[in-house]
Amino acid sequence: MLNPPPLRLGVNVDHVATLRNARAGERPDPVRAALVAIEAGADGITAHLREDRRHIRDDDMARLKAEISKPLNFEMAATEDMLRIALATKPHAVCLVPERREELTTEGGLDVVGQHNALAPFIARLNDAGVRVSLFIAADPAQIEMAARLRAPVIEIHTGAWCDAVVDGHTAKAESEWRRIVAGAVLARTAGLEVHAGHGLDYATAESIAEVAEIMELNIGYYMIGEALFVGLGETVRTMRAAMDRGRAKLGNLQSRTSRA
Ligand code: PXP
Repeated sequence: MLNPPPLRLGVNVDHVATLRNARAGERPDPVRAALVAIEAGADGITAHLREDRRHIRDDDMARLKAEISKPLNFEMAATEDMLRIALATKPHAVCLVPERREELTTEGGLDVVGQHNALAPFIARLNDAGVRVSLFIAADPAQIEMAARLRAPVIEIHTGAWCDAVVDGHTAKAESEWRRIVAGAVLARTAGLEVHAGHGLDYATAESIAEVAEIMELNIGYYMIGEALFVGLGETVRTMRAAMDRGRAKLGNLQSRTSRA
């Protein structure tokens, strides 16, 4: 492939807020982190306003929208309260995610098949407001087909199970999760959806997944904020960008796209 399609990097700043909230003060500031990430090459910023406000707070979201020069991706659960805040904030995009109070992180994808009746009006209202809706789902054909029927323009494929299997050295599981992600990305593109991916990505898995031509954006947080403690956030963003670019440059090698444990 001569000109590989661009691959955007969205940096998730939630865990800068986690650190700040450990002392209930104002530092470190997730908005400052967003500005540093953009300066270093991030194409957008993601933040998740959780119902329990465990990291990002309402005022962080408002300040992100006011102060950053790149698109803001507002992650949220599909609740009336969140919809009201999102419509007032007017971010570039809203990523709808499942949320359970007791979970450590977003553990699974949204069940758009089971919840399509509830989700349809949410997606319609965000579409009407000119906010790009993304549905965070597993790379499951039924979920992908329903996302297209619900007229969401974007899906984000949950890469957590694949990343866990890679990190834990579970080769067979990693291989089957990889195949699922690639097949899901191809199916979604065929259905006219824009495809993003995220959760649990590090330098190595981001480089691998960058080889999937159908994926247009990666949203990455936890690993990068952890790395930033040692080398700084700007350096972490540049290293991640370089890893993604290396992966993208390998496009055209079908073998590497379909077998990546
Ligand atoms: N995408 C979505 C929809 C998420 O919920 C998260 C986690 O907040 C991420 C991407 C980023 O995952 P991680 O922090 O593991 O990189």
